[in-house]
Amino acid sequence: MVSWEELEAICQQCRNCALAETRHNVVFGVGSRQADVLFIGEGPGEQEDLQGEPFVGPAGKLLDVMLEVIDLNRERVYIANIVKCRPPRNRDPLNVEQDACIRYLRTQTALLRPKIIVCLGRIAAMRIIDKDFRITKQHGQWFERAGVHMMAMYHPSALLRDPSKRPDTFLDLKSLQAKIQELCPETFLPNPFPEMAP
Ligand code: URA
Repeated sequence: MVSWEELEAICQQCRNCALAETRHNVVFGVGSRQADVLFIGEGPGEQEDLQGEPFVGPAGKLLDVMLEVIDLNRERVYIANIVKCRPPRNRDPLNVEQDACIRYLRTQTALLRPKIIVCLGRIAAMRIIDKDFRITKQHGQWFERAGVHMMAMYHPSALLRDPSKRPDTFLDLKSLQAKIQELCPETFLPNPFPEMAP
């Protein structure tokens, strides 16, 4: 299998779909390459395209808060997208674009071997969990495939548009926190006050 470095170099040169014509940067992924938890978004937005890093725009700021709610940060997990280049005007990535790009994510997943995958939003959930996934009905539900536990929650952009979805997402985050505690508790930041642990 290729190494992370080889995969990233190939991905940076990719011209397998039309998004290569309009991108400023390929947005490969960020976080720990030893992480047990993989977050998968949809595709880069404007800021991500300009900076070459996932989730650095307004949705990314909210994702950072969501991680903080459960004692995580972006260095403790790995974050990637279904497509690595920005779809113009932030439209949904086309199937042909997803098909051209998905092998990068599959190889990232094979290298990482995560215990837990969290799909952020409908597009990632439909691609990773089930093509008929209904985010309003099935967010927060756990699925297991080949020993990997996976769930989807609302995309942070959806939470910015519709704050009434936030209480549901809080519960999904708590469920994720419990799953991490069960399967890979070393993911959490070390407690700075161990003598005060319950
Ligand atoms: N939305 C996504 O799905 N991914 C990003 O990297 C940024 C916004």
